[in-house]
Amino acid sequence: MGSSESPKKQLILNAFAMQSPSHLNPGLHRYANDQGPAYKDLQNWVSLAQKLEAAKFHAIFFADVLGGYDVYKGPANLEPTIPSGAQFPINDPLYSVPAMAAATESISFGVTASTTYEAPYALARRFSTVDHLSKGRVGWNIVTSYLESAARNFGLNTQIEHDERYRIADEYLNVVYQLWEGSWRDDAVNVKDGVTGYADPKAVRQINHVGKYFNVPGPHLCEPSPQRTPFLLQAGTSTAGKAFAAKHAEAIFLHGQKPELIRPSVDNVRQQAKDIGRDPSSVKVIAGILAIVAETDEAAHAKFAELCQYGDREGALALFGGWSGYDLSKWADDQDFRFVEQPAVRSMVNHWSSTVPGMGDKRWDKKTISEYLVLGGNGAKIIGSAKTVADELERWVEVGDVDGFNLSYASIPDTFDDIIKYLIPELQSRGIFHTDYAVRGGTFRENMYGEKGQTRLPAAHPGSKYVWRAGEATPQYAKE
Ligand SMILES: Cc1cc2nc3c(=O)[nH]c(=O)nc-3n(C[C@H](O)[C@H](O)[C@H](O)COP(=O)(O)O)c2cc1C
Repeated sequence: MGSSESPKKQLILNAFAMQSPSHLNPGLHRYANDQGPAYKDLQNWVSLAQKLEAAKFHAIFFADVLGGYDVYKGPANLEPTIPSGAQFPINDPLYSVPAMAAATESISFGVTASTTYEAPYALARRFSTVDHLSKGRVGWNIVTSYLESAARNFGLNTQIEHDERYRIADEYLNVVYQLWEGSWRDDAVNVKDGVTGYADPKAVRQINHVGKYFNVPGPHLCEPSPQRTPFLLQAGTSTAGKAFAAKHAEAIFLHGQKPELIRPSVDNVRQQAKDIGRDPSSVKVIAGILAIVAETDEAAHAKFAELCQYGDREGALALFGGWSGYDLSKWADDQDFRFVEQPAVRSMVNHWSSTVPGMGDKRWDKKTISEYLVLGGNGAKIIGSAKTVADELERWVEVGDVDGFNLSYASIPDTFDDIIKYLIPELQSRGIFHTDYAVRGGTFRENMYGEKGQTRLPAAHPGSKYVWRAGEATPQYAKE
């Protein structure tokens, strides 16, 4: 390689999972090899974490929801969802993270939690606890939530309006930054010198946050954890969602069928991040995809077709109902949704139909939609030999300007087993995926940025203004 050639961008690879019998693969528990129903078994998650760490995955990323998908054939009807196991039942993913962390040293764990239904004071404590127990290997996927069923169970008649949820989330982040970064001084705890008490009372302060949505006096219940603020991840493609991501997220998730189609969103978020003084490349862009890899293209397509047979079509339509809020059972079976009067559904379906090769002029009715969504949900599906899939991933990086991928599964763990067996060696031989962690035993943030010592929020991140540095009587922000 000539010295003028710049090094190739190193991919970030995460496993995309959920602590439910099925994540984006309704019905696959019926496939003999699928271990989705073992989601309740801690050893199952520990083994997966060890396997993924041996293959050098950056993280396991746990999606989570706080209600059932009950829009389809609804309202408030879980009957089509329950047989498919589609994201219901679902356990809280955070509890298993310390066990996985204890059995590994470098892989990290992204955990979804909602700013709409959890109090910031309690959430800050839960994440600090796990950041301590994992030695800084936890990340928070910030969501504002989208299910009516969650709203009803948290005591609301209906969901808080979409953009208002993001306004609440913005204040929420300011509260937790103050708790994580500005409530305990960096040198507050010093048990080593044996002279002072456990911590210096002058180095622990109340934040006295009084805002529009939250009043939190503090102090934070936990002493400073390795990362303080956990690595921050977010997904949102609305105008409000992108503005929030550009301000707060260190990694964003996107779903799209083609890199050409997500590129405008990527450019938009990076530009907005730049406009507020952040380094646009410090916002890592991760695309959600399903990769089915085998020895040959034919074998991969055969595997995909076989797995599809186990998919539960009703479960797929139930997932669509929860994501979109639209109950497709209200339309006739022969309705072609490319031409439906409802604009949001029409545009979604036209988006899919324009990107799926080999469909000809097939009608996009309920059956087609359910078949389309039954494996991998709304993300792109890349099926083929290691070479085919690696070529396509490289195209996503080049055309979509993405930094990496959240790899979902059709069947767990064999989708990951195939990726480890076929795809990872191919990516490594192309020099686009690391052969070891940038910082072995490091924190989530160090390994996402590939930089030893980058354990705390980058200086240009808006949360870092709350840091209470060693020796300061009060944090700088509190004097302003
Ligand atoms: C890859 C990806 C993963 C997501 N994971 C979750 C999740 O686990 N839980 C959740 O409530 N929402 C999840 N979402 C939904 C987003 O948080 C957000 O509500 C959705 O993208 C709509 O945002 P918008 O209204 O800003 O477009 C996810 C979205 C994407 C694209």
